[in-house]
This record gives sequence, C-alpha cells and structure tokens, in this order.
Amino acid sequence: MIKVNHAGENGAVNIYRAQRIVARFRSKSLVYQLEQNMEHELAHRKIFANYLVENGIRRCKSYFACGAGGYVLGFVTGIIGPGAVAATTYAVENVVLEHLEEQRAYLCNNDLAAHACVAQIIEDEKAHHDAAKDQLEENQLMTNILIQVVKFCTECVIRFGMR
Ligand SMILES: [Fe+2]
Ligand SMILES: [Fe+2]
Repeated sequence: MIKVNHAGENGAVNIYRAQRIVARFRSKSLVYQLEQNMEHELAHRKIFANYLVENGIRRCKSYFACGAGGYVLGFVTGIIGPGAVAATTYAVENVVLEHLEEQRAYLCNNDLAAHACVAQIIEDEKAHHDAAKDQLEENQLMTNILIQVVKFCTECVIRFGMR
C-alpha cells in the first residue's frame, strides 16, 4: 500500500512539475498554485519514502513509470489550458482520496506507522481536490471526457500497483 502511495506521489509531483513549467508560458496565474501543490506532493513523497526506508522495503517497480506518466499527463493538460489542469487535479485527487480513506480505515487496525503517514497527507489532498473543483469549467464536454479518462488511468495505476 505504502509502496504504491509512494509511486503515486512521484506521479503527482511530476504532473504539477510539468504543468507549472507549461503554465509559465500558457497561464501565468496558475504558476503559484501549481508550485504550492508540487511542494505538498514532494513532502508526501518524502513521508512515504521514509516509511519504506524505515521498514526496509524497496520502492515500487512502477515508481519511474508513474513519474514519466505524470509528467506527460501534466505537460499535455498544461498545454490544453487551465480548464484541463483543473480537470486533471480534480480527477486524480478524487480517486486518490477514495483510496486514502479506505487505507486509513484499514491501517488504523493493522499498521499505526503507515496509518500516520496516510493521515498526514489527506488534508492536503482534500485541499487540492476542492480548489480544483472550484476551478472546473462547468458543462464542457471536453472537461467531462478528460475527467473520466484521468480517473480511469489513475484507478488503473493504483490497481496495477496493488496487484
Ligand atoms: Fe499527494
Ligand atoms: Fe495532491
């Protein structure tokens, strides 16, 4: 579980990293928020990395694939524009939050150290989710399609990792 979370946070770091780079040219008003989100994801990645080191667990095989996938997703959606950036964040965090809530319920009876890691990041992910939800461009077909595609991909990455 924590291995997959760690890889997922690497994906998140790279989504925001790529979006931030593109936003410098495409939508300057987003740069600050993307920068903040990236800092949070870096901290999350560190929390899970520390847990893995402390427990002598190797990182997930999908760690670099998640990073590369996240970067491509962030780059493409950054170019499409602010609506696509908001849709991506909303979709990813929506799926992530569902899994984190499940993990939190499970881990409190099974691994308190892992539970503490998950509990620490949930508020940040909620904040990312809610801010993106406010910035969604309503009733746009492209936005809705993008949300479904990104949700599906995120779900696949998590399921593939947990297998
Ligand atoms: Fe995160
Ligand atoms: Fe996040």
